[in-house]
Amino acid sequence: MGKILVTGGTGFIGSHTAVELISAGYDVILADDFSNSNPKILTQLETITGKKPEFIEIDLCDEAKVKELVAQHPEITGVIHFAAFKAVGESVQQPLKYYRNNFYSLINLITAFKGKIDLVFSSSCTVYGQPDKLPVTEDAPVKKAESPYGNTKQIAEEMLTDTCAVTPDLKVISLRYFNPVGAHASSLIGELPIGVPQNLVPFITQSAIGKRGPITVYGNDYNTPDGSAIRDYIHVVDLAKAHVAAIKRLETKKAEGNYEVFNLGTGKGSSVLEIIQAFESSTGEKLNYTIGARREGDVEQVWGDVTKSSAQLGWTAELDVNEMMLSAWNWEKYLKDNPF
Ligand code: WQD
Repeated sequence: MGKILVTGGTGFIGSHTAVELISAGYDVILADDFSNSNPKILTQLETITGKKPEFIEIDLCDEAKVKELVAQHPEITGVIHFAAFKAVGESVQQPLKYYRNNFYSLINLITAFKGKIDLVFSSSCTVYGQPDKLPVTEDAPVKKAESPYGNTKQIAEEMLTDTCAVTPDLKVISLRYFNPVGAHASSLIGELPIGVPQNLVPFITQSAIGKRGPITVYGNDYNTPDGSAIRDYIHVVDLAKAHVAAIKRLETKKAEGNYEVFNLGTGKGSSVLEIIQAFESSTGEKLNYTIGARREGDVEQVWGDVTKSSAQLGWTAELDVNEMMLSAWNWEKYLKDNPF
């Protein structure tokens, strides 16, 4: 069992994955620049796992620093690369910030490991755009990205495919996340949006706790059963466990070839109005919401076919939408009493 470098390790998905790696017996080194996370997460991880995680504050766009990190830690056997900017709207306003950060960090990592490493890459269902067929499978055509953020994920996957084709010792699994939501059962870690949350579930919990006004449902005139848009929401703890399964697959060399892609979702779609209803029924909290216009760039409906992940990663999501909502709410209540 090797030592795993988790870039973006104090972030939402990175921190939950660190917990699951440690509980699976791995040693981890977390790397982050705190551009979208809080140093207090390190203390929280120590409380949850009973271990003070090894941590390196680093800008992964600094090639020399990344080379130094890798040279100083020859014991690293795998990398899970979360570190990237991911706000869709911001990426439209500041595209170069996104292209620079999301590509330099990935290229520096592969270069520093001299093309010999097991790498799990954080990708996204965003690469599918609005699929022609649902549920969407991994071999569905990648569609033109709706945002520079989505484009960075598409181009990163192409960079990895091309590099793996000529670098046999670079073994990569790209994980295409659907909509990660919820929080660890301890309520000590969870999503920490900066400013007004762009994503649905953190806005819901902040509205419910009184930090925000009513929720705006972005459109109820879609061609869906209740008119609101549909997504495949997945509990962040289930998502984290899939990363451990991916590292294990790479370690045991069960992978077919040295580049694979897996969908990480539940295989079920939920509409915005169904999520609101699930939040109310699982928490007992009443939500205020209004129906507004569609949001630019949103797809109408997308949910994943997770047959391949189940068959080859040996992983399936176990937590349902009610557990997602309740854990997100418990985390919001924890934050109210313990502000970061
Ligand atoms: C979900 C639904 C909105 C806010 C996200 C990330 C993207 C990718 C996939 C990682 C949509 C609606 C939202 C609100 C609303 N993740 N909504 N009112 O856009 O599916 O994508 O997950 O790569 O990076 O952005 O998630 O939570 O923003 O929206 O009605 O106040 O909720 O229109 O239908 P999205 P989201």
